[in-house]
Amino acid sequence: MDAAAFPPENVAALLRWYVDHGLDETIGEEAVDRFALPPPAAAQVPGAPPSNAIAPTPVRPPTPPPAVRAPVPLESPQLVEDARELARRCATIAELEEAVRAFEGCALKRTAKNTVFADGVAGAPLMIVGEAPGADEDRLGKPFVGVSGQLLDRMFAALGMSRERDLYITNILFWRPPGNRTPTLAEQAVCLAFTRRHIELARPKLVVLAGGTSAKAMLDTTEGIMRLRGKWATVKLDDGTEMPAMPTFHPAYLLRTPASKRQSWLDLLAIDKKLGELGVKVSS
Ligand code: URA
Repeated sequence: MDAAAFPPENVAALLRWYVDHGLDETIGEEAVDRFALPPPAAAQVPGAPPSNAIAPTPVRPPTPPPAVRAPVPLESPQLVEDARELARRCATIAELEEAVRAFEGCALKRTAKNTVFADGVAGAPLMIVGEAPGADEDRLGKPFVGVSGQLLDRMFAALGMSRERDLYITNILFWRPPGNRTPTLAEQAVCLAFTRRHIELARPKLVVLAGGTSAKAMLDTTEGIMRLRGKWATVKLDDGTEMPAMPTFHPAYLLRTPASKRQSWLDLLAIDKKLGELGVKVSS
């Protein structure tokens, strides 16, 4: 490699570009210079003579390839309906998890390593709904296990709560978007059908919406998190249940903007107060 042509800052920028586009793993020890490879040889049919042999006169035209089914359009309105219907038929969280794991209607599943369903105590009084799994969550198959998850744990530990005892944690998406890009509205709509049923089945006393994407999707609003956070809202579920919901900053945002932790602390105090009003005892 000509070191002058690839100064370290260019290489770093190129690596960042790869990561931003979802290429966050190397699969070979050595880079392959595909320009230096010989042109690909014509495909060799097993049992056929080598391509440089004199071809026999074909006796009949080659068999046409089998008709290929048109690809099913992903995240279509029909897929959202299918997801809703599947979710509605699930009577328990275990059935819902099975349905999500078997669901093939979200393109994100194709690039993700794992389905990330939930963590914590199903049926806990507080349910946290984040945005989407990141790289660590995708690798381990659990929500909020990376650095932002560690901050989330510390935030709720300050209220004497833990995911082992008092919290149930999920995301609006079950699969990591490549390069952690913002999920499209179509991707959100499909997964949301399951997430809404997830809340119905988990029956928490209140829901915390972590970050703007989760808050907007769950509250069906275009209002941003700056306006939404700190104010009680209502999540209206398909079975008619209405649940108090607190939109708050995403822990990843707090890691980037520590000055916002003050507002986040006020949100946590409001959550603590509401739990008290709802008769939820937190035993620390
Ligand atoms: N961010 C989220 O919103 N959810 C996770 O599970 C991890 C990071």
